[in-house]
Amino acid sequence: MNNIFSDRISDVPRSFIREIFKVAVDTSVISFAGGLPNRDFFPVKELQAAANRVFESAGKEVLQYSNSEGYPKLREYISKRYLEKKGLDIPVENILITSGSQQGLDLLGKTFLNEGDDVIIEEPGYLGAIQAFSVYKSAFNPVPVGEEGMDIDCLKEVFSAKSPKLMYTVPNFQNPSGISYPEENRYAIADILNNKNTFLIEDDPYGDLRFTGTDKESFGKILPENAILLGSFSKTIVPSFRLGWITAPSLDVMERLIIAKQASDLHTNYFIQRVICQYLADNDLDKHINKIIKVYNSQLMAMVKSIEKYFPADVSHTHPEGGMFLWATLPEGVSSMKLFDLAIEDKVAFVPGNPFYVNKDKTNTLRLNFSCVDEETIETGIKRLGKSIEKLLS
Ligand SMILES: Cc1ncc(COP(=O)(O)O)c(C=O)c1O
Repeated sequence: MNNIFSDRISDVPRSFIREIFKVAVDTSVISFAGGLPNRDFFPVKELQAAANRVFESAGKEVLQYSNSEGYPKLREYISKRYLEKKGLDIPVENILITSGSQQGLDLLGKTFLNEGDDVIIEEPGYLGAIQAFSVYKSAFNPVPVGEEGMDIDCLKEVFSAKSPKLMYTVPNFQNPSGISYPEENRYAIADILNNKNTFLIEDDPYGDLRFTGTDKESFGKILPENAILLGSFSKTIVPSFRLGWITAPSLDVMERLIIAKQASDLHTNYFIQRVICQYLADNDLDKHINKIIKVYNSQLMAMVKSIEKYFPADVSHTHPEGGMFLWATLPEGVSSMKLFDLAIEDKVAFVPGNPFYVNKDKTNTLRLNFSCVDEETIETGIKRLGKSIEKLLS
């Protein structure tokens, strides 16, 4: 069976994070490597009650095939929430339910990308997006992001030489860095993209998890003709249901996305769509999110406090206002991959920055997840990591 695999799959990077999980299964290792929402907040009883109600009221119907766009009432809920929370007018007909926002990325790749097409991606950027677009053999144009948002000069430079079809962003509490784009930065980006033949993808699975500060304007508002929004219930309700959505800026785009969706899986699990919809009708989602935010915020504070206490002063870190991740930078030239080996010996895990860059294999950065570790354990883990860093620097 030689040469049986497609170039498409052979060239896609394997998820390094899944490799790390293998190391971090040892229960004596404190892991900041995960990217999971905290299971303590999964509304098990409420979802069970919703599932029972759906079975009782529409048993046979919900077990049948359904339409590709998704359950109309769920799409209506999403449209209404955009209006209430962000002042965005997204018609129901422009919303496609997907099997997680990860499928949204795949459908966008399938719909827009030919081999070699240029895509702008944040650096560091979400590994799942790098994987999804790699399948379509796109050419990545990384643009650095940091606390000031996206590097505008670098973005202009890319546009001066190329015509990227897609630009991928996570402007709120980015994975992996936790940063958010300031509002002025969003307007500067919009100025550059205005009238360009480029769709800007705003992937926003963490936007509802804001602990401090104020919401910034969505690209759906400031660049409505170019913005494609991706959303997800994974971080606010449960990830295993695999429920997300895409908003299309026009019905023309929507039509192509539906074709891509049909070719992939016909439609997203209809029963699960109905269960979520019932859950949303019977429960107050914002109240639920507020419970999550309170705990995640305390965990983030514990992490920041411990970093400031136990890390050498020349290690810097981001200051997220929400989400699930914080990003630390070691002194120039120090390898976070080497730190990973030492840290595992010291029984603490994190994700080295490498997989979040498309062209770099040596980095001095690390992603730390705070959503799944309690405050006391965070202090112990960061103290251990501080020791590992000191060993590496000495
Ligand atoms: C930025 C980003 N986009 C998309 C996803 C995928 O989410 P979903 O569970 O909706 O597929 C994740 C998951 O971690 C993420 O961090």
